[in-house]
Parts: sequence; structure tokens; C-alpha cells
Amino acid sequence: MTLKDSYSEIAYRYDQFHGEFGKYDSQTYEFFKKIFQDHNITSVLDCACGTGRHLPLFQSLGCEVIGSDASTEMLNRARVNLSTLGANIEVLEADYRNLPEHFNKKFDAVVCLTSSILHMPNDSEFLRALKSMKKVLNNGGLLILTQGTADKQWSEKPRFILGPSHEKSSRVFVIDYHENGATYNMLDIHHPNGQSSLQSWSITYNKVFLHDDHKKLLTESGFKDIQFYGDYDFVTYNKQTSKRLISTAVKNQ
Ligand SMILES: C[S@@+](CC[C@H](N)C(=O)[O-])C[C@H]1O[C@@H](n2cnc3c(N)ncnc32)[C@H](O)[C@@H]1O
Repeated sequence: MTLKDSYSEIAYRYDQFHGEFGKYDSQTYEFFKKIFQDHNITSVLDCACGTGRHLPLFQSLGCEVIGSDASTEMLNRARVNLSTLGANIEVLEADYRNLPEHFNKKFDAVVCLTSSILHMPNDSEFLRALKSMKKVLNNGGLLILTQGTADKQWSEKPRFILGPSHEKSSRVFVIDYHENGATYNMLDIHHPNGQSSLQSWSITYNKVFLHDDHKKLLTESGFKDIQFYGDYDFVTYNKQTSKRLISTAVKNQ
């Protein structure tokens, strides 16, 4: 891959804190089901598919699905996950800023989920990514961006956030906030049968793009019908209360 692969060393344990591969909470499932129905989506590109977590969901909704990602190791995990599930879904290596170089077909939807868009270091690269996604969308096609960092967190700047916790392991986020960006330090505590060990990894976002950035850059890249939700239940985004930012926009010429 051409960009530094910050996921290469953690790809093998990326899925540890997510549920069983191929299983989804009902709110996430219903969100994609409704929005895909509303927009007549029959083909989907997940352009930062990581370990492939969302690909079977889109296939189960009757869509033709392809996954791409910039990380070789994340894609290797995706291939293992998909073949274990028996799902026949193609994944390939591509930087989402250059999608037209990799795809000569267009999609009804392009999705970029779980803060993958926060890997863009500045406005011009974010804009480049949006234009690339737009080019592989059909006219009338839908773009969906999701991230767990929202305006509320940015204004309150909590240092510690508790992540998922299971019987055998728990995750804690320790966050260093910079002027425009943030470093997420993740501590994974493994505590099976009274034993204890720790693994850590960090990811730095040069800029944390929030609601106003999404609005400005989606508008600048020519997307229309831009909507913001605060969660998968379609609640309208609220800067004071929302814990998640979901942006959707339509390519209209
Ligand atoms: C937090 S993971 C999310 C993965 C997946 N969407 C999920 O929901 O689990 C972020 C992903 O974005 C990918 N990524 C970062 N920059 C990228 C780029 N420029 N083009 C394509 N993928 C990129 C990383 O390799 C990683 O797999």
C-alpha cells in the first residue's frame, strides 16, 4: 500500500471487541435496510471495509457488494472472515481517494464507516476523498459516512472513554486532544480466569472533522440532499447531545 498502514499490526485483533462476524445489532441493520430501500440501492461499495464487518449485512439486504481498503492486513482479515462465513464477496486494495482508478463500474451507494474518513489529514484530502467517492457513484447514488467522534465529545474532551467489555477482555480509550486533532490510545485488558495482560495501540487523527466540516466539504464537492443523524435510529444530529455523526448525501449530477 502507498500510505502508512497504521492497522497492519492490529488487524489480527481488530475484531476482538466487535460482535460475532456476520451478526448485527438490530438498529444498525434496520438503518441500512430503510435507507437502502428509500434510495433504491442495489449495489454498494464499502470503500474502507477494514475486516469486512459490514459487507455481509449489505449482501443480506439483497445488494451486490464490493469492499475496498488501503490496508493489506485488514483485507487479509476480511478474506478470512468472509470465507469462514461462506460469503462470496470480493475485496480489493484501494485508497479511497483514487477509487476511479480501481473501479470501472459505478455503485448506487458508497459507504465509509466507523471513522475511516477521519484518516484524511486536512480539508483538501477530505475533499479529494469525497470527489473520488462521488465519481464511482451512479447519478442519484447515496454516500454514507459514519464516525463515533462527534461535536459533543470534542467540546467536552473526555480523557477516558470506556469501550466494550466482555467476560475475558475490556477496552479503555485514553484520548490526547490536540489543537485540531486527537490521539486515541486504546488499552486492551485481557482478563480471562483471573489472569491479566495488556495490549495497547494508538491512532492519531490530524484533524477531527465534525458536523460543520462535513457540511462544508460535502457541499463543496457538489453533493446534494445532505442529512445528518445522531445515531442509527435516524434521530436528527444534535451538536450538544449526539454521540455519533452519520452524514448522508446524494450525487445529483
Ligand atoms: C476504524 S477502521 C474501520 C473499518 C471498517 N469500516 C469498520 O467499520 O470496522 C478504518 C479503516 O479505514 C482504512 N483507511 C484509512 N485510510 C484509508 C484510505 N485512504 N483509503 C482506504 N481505506 C483507508 C483503514 O485501513 C481501516 O481499515
